[in-house]
Amino acid sequence: MNDALLSALDTITDPASGAPLGRSGRVSAADLKDGVATIVLKAGGKDEDAGALRDAVKAAAGAVEGVERARVIVEAELNRGESKARKAEAKQAPAPARLIIAVASGKGGVGKSTVAANLAAACAKAGLSTGLMDADIYGPSAPRLFGLSDAPGLRKADNGGIEPLEAHGVKLVSMGFLVGERDPVVWRGPMVTGAIRQFLGEVNWGDLDVLVIDMPPGTGDPQLAIAQGAPISGVVIVSTPQDLALDDAKKAVALFDRTAIPVLGFVENMSFFLCPHCGEGTEIFGRGGARAEAELTGAPFLGEIPLHPELRKASDEGRLVALGEGPVAKAFERAAAAMIEQAHAVQRPAPEIVFED
Ligand SMILES: Nc1ncnc2c1ncn2[C@@H]1O[C@H](COP(=O)(O)OP(=O)(O)OP(=O)(O)O)[C@@H](O)[C@H]1O
Ligand SMILES: [Mg+2]
Repeated sequence: MNDALLSALDTITDPASGAPLGRSGRVSAADLKDGVATIVLKAGGKDEDAGALRDAVKAAAGAVEGVERARVIVEAELNRGESKARKAEAKQAPAPARLIIAVASGKGGVGKSTVAANLAAACAKAGLSTGLMDADIYGPSAPRLFGLSDAPGLRKADNGGIEPLEAHGVKLVSMGFLVGERDPVVWRGPMVTGAIRQFLGEVNWGDLDVLVIDMPPGTGDPQLAIAQGAPISGVVIVSTPQDLALDDAKKAVALFDRTAIPVLGFVENMSFFLCPHCGEGTEIFGRGGARAEAELTGAPFLGEIPLHPELRKASDEGRLVALGEGPVAKAFERAAAAMIEQAHAVQRPAPEIVFED
């Protein structure tokens, strides 16, 4: 606990107890390291205040000398109505992976799942022990992309954890393994958040080098649940070169900025049409929009993936282009290497989160 940070937090009134926040007992961690302040708050009684409280904490911590960046984590889920045993389990749960990389986009249909799956495959091909969490509860795609549409569902292991499936050298969990890809999931927001929490906390990933999270499209509650529920190393934003998709990509950047999760960079998908017959590239949407956007926001540009019929075909057949040869596979290899390099570059020691009884 850092005293200067705690004093700064005392200027905020805890909406749940009315006490000065620093002394309210809700702060379970307040650390300052390398200019980064990490504040972990336990859940309060008033969920609707969480956003405002987080902003206030961020501002107060940001004003403390030596703080260049403040990161606020609200342990909303872990403290409510949970048994002691579960808490003890949470205490021992190891971080699921050395690197956790979220693949996100503001807009749907830009090829986020295709890119996430192929980036994960490229990591596995490079010899990294890799997992993919399909966090798109309403529209899961991992079963199809990895050729596991007919696979038996996820099962509980003897230790009570969820056993991931494995295909193409990648460990996988997806809602699609539980409900079937075409069955509509008619869940309300909190249930989705709960499912995501289970995927984050209860999967037997083993010793992963990298966990890729295929985020649901948009910038709402499920995205926040993930951003707050896992020690994410950084986020990769997928966009097409079109202005509209880029506008949405900016919203995604803003969401992750709010949670102080570093943007590792942009991947431009469907950058240009790569003709499967003559090998020539045609710039259908005006190539380079995401690169320009990356430059504007100061985020690295990780690579461009061509629009190629083979990608769509492979996706439908449960093959991963990244595992083959050729220009598209190379594009994924390069983007994955750039992503891993960035993730290492931004990595800081994980904050130690202590759950008090
Ligand atoms: N570079 C590409 N070349 C050709 N087809 C592509 C490419 N990227 C994605 N596709 C195809 O576009 C469609 C949408 O891709 P995908 O499902 O990956 O998008 P998404 O952003 O995850 O969508 P959603 O928002 O619904 O989750 C799929 O049919 C996929 O095969
Ligand atoms: Mg998708």
